[in-house]
Amino acid sequence: MFPTRLFAFVLVGLAVLFTGHGLAGPKFPAPDPPRFPEKEVMEEKRDRAHAILDALTAGDYDTLRREATALDRIADLRIFLTSYKTEEYRYQAKVFKHAVDDLVAAAKAKNMDAAALAYADMTRTCVKCHTHFRGVKD
Ligand code: HEC
Repeated sequence: MFPTRLFAFVLVGLAVLFTGHGLAGPKFPAPDPPRFPEKEVMEEKRDRAHAILDALTAGDYDTLRREATALDRIADLRIFLTSYKTEEYRYQAKVFKHAVDDLVAAAKAKNMDAAALAYADMTRTCVKCHTHFRGVKD
């Protein structure tokens, strides 16, 4: 019995040593995926939105669908949804999500007019949300 226990202790000790030394940064990773910081998520919105404009002008439905789907994923992220805890922020986040959903649907249906409309709706929420939280921050 004793050697087994000793062995277990040594194993635990080694595990503690390795995790203690091997990892840079926070000891306990954030429980909520994804792990990338807020700034990266927010910048990704801009990159995707630009790619969508390119896809709209080129008539490229595959890119449109891919980029809109990526934005849809961002629209569901807790890090995005809870950045500012005001009612207006929540409202704009919801409108953003609807516009992005419309964009995905338009890309699937290969309907460029609907896609352009959804893109305009989405862009409006970018500006409105940013204007709102700038007012809250100041
Ligand atoms: C529901 C609110 C909301 C919507 C809609 C929204 N954003 Fe943002 N965005 C934020 C927040 C919050 C930040 C972080 C601002 C801060 O506190 O510094 C941010 C930051 C950014 C940044 C700056 C990142 C940095 O820190 O350098 C960019 C670029 C950006 N958003 C682009 C967009 C684009 C493009 C859209 C539309 C496709 C959009 N956002 C829609 C809330 C929103």
